[in-house]
Amino acid sequence: MMFEINQLETEARISLKRILPRVEAALKRSITKDPQAWEQFNARLQQNFPALLSLYAEVYSDRYDFFYHLEDLVESMARSWFNRPQDLRELDDVREQNPHWFQSNQMLGGICYVDLFANNLDGIRKKIPYFKELGLTYIHLMPLFKAPDGENDGGYAVSSYREVHPPLGTMKQLASLARDFREAGISLVVDLVFNHTSDEHIWAERAKAGDEEYMDFYRIFPSRELPSRYEQNLREIFPEEHSGAFSPFVINGKEHWVWTTFHSYQWDLNYANPAVFNRMAEEMLFLANQGVEVLRLDAVAFIWKQLGTNCENLPQAHTLIKAFNAVARIASPALIFKSEAIVHPDDVVKYISPEECQVSYNPLLMALLWNSLATREVKLLSQALASRFKLQSGTAWVNYVRVHDDIGWTFSDEDAAQLGMNGYDHRRFLNEFYRGRFPGSFARGLPFQENPATGDCRISGTGASLAGLEKALHEEGEKEVELAIRRILLIHAIIITVGGIPLIYLGDEIGTLNDYTYRDDPAHERDSRWVHRPRADWKKYEKRKNLHSLEGHIFRGFRAMIELRKGNDVFAGGELDVIPTDNEHVLGFTRTHGGKRAVVFANFSESPQTISSRVIEQYAITSLKKLHGRNHVSPKNSLLLEPLDFVVFG
Ligand code: GLC
Ligand code: GLC
Repeated sequence: MMFEINQLETEARISLKRILPRVEAALKRSITKDPQAWEQFNARLQQNFPALLSLYAEVYSDRYDFFYHLEDLVESMARSWFNRPQDLRELDDVREQNPHWFQSNQMLGGICYVDLFANNLDGIRKKIPYFKELGLTYIHLMPLFKAPDGENDGGYAVSSYREVHPPLGTMKQLASLARDFREAGISLVVDLVFNHTSDEHIWAERAKAGDEEYMDFYRIFPSRELPSRYEQNLREIFPEEHSGAFSPFVINGKEHWVWTTFHSYQWDLNYANPAVFNRMAEEMLFLANQGVEVLRLDAVAFIWKQLGTNCENLPQAHTLIKAFNAVARIASPALIFKSEAIVHPDDVVKYISPEECQVSYNPLLMALLWNSLATREVKLLSQALASRFKLQSGTAWVNYVRVHDDIGWTFSDEDAAQLGMNGYDHRRFLNEFYRGRFPGSFARGLPFQENPATGDCRISGTGASLAGLEKALHEEGEKEVELAIRRILLIHAIIITVGGIPLIYLGDEIGTLNDYTYRDDPAHERDSRWVHRPRADWKKYEKRKNLHSLEGHIFRGFRAMIELRKGNDVFAGGELDVIPTDNEHVLGFTRTHGGKRAVVFANFSESPQTISSRVIEQYAITSLKKLHGRNHVSPKNSLLLEPLDFVVFG
């Protein structure tokens, strides 16, 4: 049900009047010990409860036991608040006073796997000086929770949200790492893998044992009938692993089917059951209380299912995420969400708002940067920046070039059609190009989840290998190596200056190449994404200090762009206007912030390009200082850009 606004305030007051005495009785000891904490909790509860009630009721009010679950949720939030360490409660106040903290030009993100980057959590702690050297203020540690041995989808099959995967360390170490990070000015980001658990999670174990309460935690079916009906409208996410979205398993000798969007060992949770929401809210608050400041909400698009739909991006998915957000505002206000929605751009933006996910991956920009490198043209990219980049206040994009996942060509077919391109054909071209099969391709990528039925495929590979460095080093020569390095720096320059939070897939800053050894590991051989998940080579990292080495060359390029960002607050926020450059190879945009303006040009071609005097005059470029790049203003007052160069005036 949905409430009218007036009715909502009244119902919220009445509900709290009923619930609070019972929660107070349950938490009497804690309240007596720390009355001030209770007061703080109460204040935030009063303020945010109407929103929470309305969202929760939207999904669950039809349940006969609605009020039981609502009360249970309030009690969980209160318990969690009493467990919240004092320093984090202080951070809550700081963040509430400055809710736009993540829009600063000082922000710079990095991602890595704990084991692959530094063996374990203690190793990560020892890398803090490196993180500071690079300038990171945000570190996403890839899933580090207890997971099945062997295949576990790189940790995205979680067996316990409260335990660190034993080889990596302990939860206590994670909490103390979060503190060390904070002292170093770094926010800890981890995943909340909330669409599914591993089939070894205690909830799944109980469901397998036939416990009805826990069977209702998942989408379990006694026969193939309903699954087959659902499947008529579903996209296959990992078709190489299993066709369709369901996997068989046995309860008491009888075959059942469980919903598994991803791998057969990743069981989708049943959010139609409010107990699932409440238990997951507890896991979320538990992580927030360890000092996690940003939760990356994994696979947001899939959390709600409804027969007859494609079960992606349904309205209830948004309602649920907003409800989680309301829980965070009450019991861990410093926490923000990052959405991982790798879907159509119209759907990606729907997850982004201060009430839902404050920040979001920008898969469109990522895909179109690679597109521009392949085509040497900027039209799709310019169009996307002009029409799809602007976000509402209080939110930001997380802009990236590579992450641990494959590259999917998630641009909109309608946008492509406007520019006279056929989306389907163009994706085929991009796949051929990045697999190195198109004439003139510089890329060394691999196919991921090729679907012979649809001709669909995504691309794996490290940033450097996709940008041409691998091929240039092994088959070509110095000139191509230089071009590959310029490509790497060019697309990173854009994510660093375009607005929002730039996110570096660690390893890219020293030009890490594909690692084909995953093929020898039975747990990874079938998943080409491991080609871009190599173990950090610290001997190579050492070479960053030598400016004559390849690593030093690339690293110095990264540092220059990072200094450019951090030294100029015009790069804060996300205000951007596209410049029509009259040159199909050159992207142009202005950034404005706090009364300042910067003008940016990026040449995606391997030959020099000119910007006409018309553009130079219109944007008053000669009155600005050059902040970055190698260009020259030519005698005729036009601007000459070197191959693959990135130029900034401000
Ligand atoms: C997310 C992760 C991906 C994983 C999937 C299933 O999309 O980024 O690596 O395979 O979720 O959890
Ligand atoms: C699909 C999903 C995305 C996930 C990816 C993993 O693209 O939409 O959420 O990250 O698969 O490869």
